[in-house]
Amino acid sequence: MPSSELPILVTCGLPYANGPCHIGHLRTYVPADIYVRGLKKMGKGPIFICGSDSHGTPIVVNAEERGTTPTELVTRYHDHFDDVFKRMEVEFDYFGNTDDPSNHSRTQSIVEALMGEGYVYPQEIQLAYCPSCDRFLPDRYVEGTCPYCKSPARGDECDQGCGRHLEPGEIEEPLCKVCGSEAEYRTQKHYFFRLSDFSDFLIDYLEGLGGTSNARNYALEWVKQELKDWCITRNLEWGVKFPGQEGLVVYVWVDAPIGYISFTEEWAKRSGGSWESYWKKPSRIVHFIGGDIVYHHCIFWSAMLKGASYTLPSAVVASGMLKIDNKTFSKSRGYVVWVIDDYLEKGLHPDLLRYYLASYTSHTKELNFSWTVFGEKVNGELVGALGNFVNRAATFTTKNFDQTIPEGDLDPEVTSKIEATLAEVKAALDEYEFKKLVDGAMSLADYGNTYFQANEPWKLAKTDRARCGAVLRNCLQIAKALSIMLQPVMPAKMESAWKQLGLEGTAAEALFDDALVPVEAGRRLGVPEHIFDKMDDSMVSDLDEVFRARIAAIEAKKGEKKSEDKMSTIKFEDFKNLDIRVGVVLEAESIKGSNKLLRLIVDIGSEERQIVAGIAMTHSPEDLVGRQIVVLANLEPAKLFGVESRGMLLAADMGDSAVLLTPEKAVPPGSKIR
Ligand code: MF3
Ligand code: ZN
Repeated sequence: MPSSELPILVTCGLPYANGPCHIGHLRTYVPADIYVRGLKKMGKGPIFICGSDSHGTPIVVNAEERGTTPTELVTRYHDHFDDVFKRMEVEFDYFGNTDDPSNHSRTQSIVEALMGEGYVYPQEIQLAYCPSCDRFLPDRYVEGTCPYCKSPARGDECDQGCGRHLEPGEIEEPLCKVCGSEAEYRTQKHYFFRLSDFSDFLIDYLEGLGGTSNARNYALEWVKQELKDWCITRNLEWGVKFPGQEGLVVYVWVDAPIGYISFTEEWAKRSGGSWESYWKKPSRIVHFIGGDIVYHHCIFWSAMLKGASYTLPSAVVASGMLKIDNKTFSKSRGYVVWVIDDYLEKGLHPDLLRYYLASYTSHTKELNFSWTVFGEKVNGELVGALGNFVNRAATFTTKNFDQTIPEGDLDPEVTSKIEATLAEVKAALDEYEFKKLVDGAMSLADYGNTYFQANEPWKLAKTDRARCGAVLRNCLQIAKALSIMLQPVMPAKMESAWKQLGLEGTAAEALFDDALVPVEAGRRLGVPEHIFDKMDDSMVSDLDEVFRARIAAIEAKKGEKKSEDKMSTIKFEDFKNLDIRVGVVLEAESIKGSNKLLRLIVDIGSEERQIVAGIAMTHSPEDLVGRQIVVLANLEPAKLFGVESRGMLLAADMGDSAVLLTPEKAVPPGSKIR
């Protein structure tokens, strides 16, 4: 089979099912989706696979902090990501979950294969252990000091200093993340993968690896320095059991990428395809990932595949860093844009963000998100250049040629401009340069505007109707080509352009080469309307305001924290004025239109109270019913989302999550707190 006909599998790094989707995530998913749609336009039939990454210590810690189970947490965020991707038009053929049974069994079978080949060996190592919690402290359960750069670090990564991956036992001055006690080191048997055996293989392999050079070059550098064997087990309950060892699971970076295979199996089951044709036979596997996980994909993952005799990836495409308003992206400092709350729920169309992400800069470079630039791009490029051109061509034809594509020859200059742009677009996809694709298409839109302007069809309409018709037919041809070339970037918007142009079929089905198939004279256009709406300045500044307010609130909170120690004292009389009581939740339901608030009916002894609580992100209504909680009963009533709240539920504020206060043992509802 010539390599161009190999089956193609495209994947995206699996999002941790541990928090909401932000636009940093989309820097991987949107370009990958553009790529897949582009391949389809070249007549290829790639499959597109992703899913949630559900294991690992941070998820266990997070679930514990929120008083819920890993399964519940993971299910919630799995559904969240699935929803975001659909709404952002990122169309996977299968979106799985690494906790699904098929991933457990594929992982165990791969680990067993590696053991069978002698690539896995046991070794006694020193591990952080918390004497007061009475457990081993894997990865993020322990915090301490990086042995290399002495920065504060967490168990498996020096996140604030040199960025190294830390192996279990490496961290210095370990503290238990759960209770804060000093941890001690204890000996335990763990299993290691002989990564060092793969050095020569990896150097060879990486030299021929496709994708972006940032991935290939970093990985080669690391391999050439030194590869250490890799500890692939952890002391956790949550995860994929390590074969034959009760109490151990595999490290999350073992079973997560194996998700790519098990999700392909799931896809195959449903579609009648064959997973082996991608993973056991020659194929073209393309991984889209964030620049921070190159090591895991190019080194750990490739070596595992090689060791267990699976097909190796052909290309790794790594995206650059995301900055927000010129500051390093940071959820805790508020430099984050949430895809649902800050974007989609503001009524913004997904295609605008897709366009922004693709056109801002090369995929591998740093992207700096700002609402001002977003607004400028929408208004200048989408409304001003592209939308304007398509609209002029369509409305002018509608008015002067009875909404029908006129007769007339295509100008050779127009045809060759379309041809040249097509070549540029295809080359851009081959190089994973999505900005080049967009720039090529947008220069065709500029050309279209210039062509329209220079040919003055409004004059021709009076002086030379035949030529006027020909000019418009040329414009409609350019508009058709634009809808095809930009469909991978803006699927919905280009579909609406396609309809206005009255073309047959859909923009989604059209191949790139159809851009040169002449628009049929005599066909009726759809009703012309503006494809893009202008964003006025106040809209841009409102969006920006949301973001600034969040940063300010975080800053203020930090200030509060600092002054908490010296918070002024109150009189006992004042305290006595607070009516704090134990209540029992009788009913709980979500509030329509809000993903944060729940409406509760609480029995507070003397009466049943309606209370609105901002805990929907951390608690599901079913889990609350029957639970004892603590309520401030004499707080002034307030309306939240139009629902009256009479009283406040008390909880420990963990920043982005809430931990409910509950009595030590069940007490009658209405019991006073003193
Ligand atoms: N969840 C990981 C992250 O967000 C990515 C996992 S990608 C996979 O960094 F290859 F492991 F699947
Ligand atoms: Zn360090």
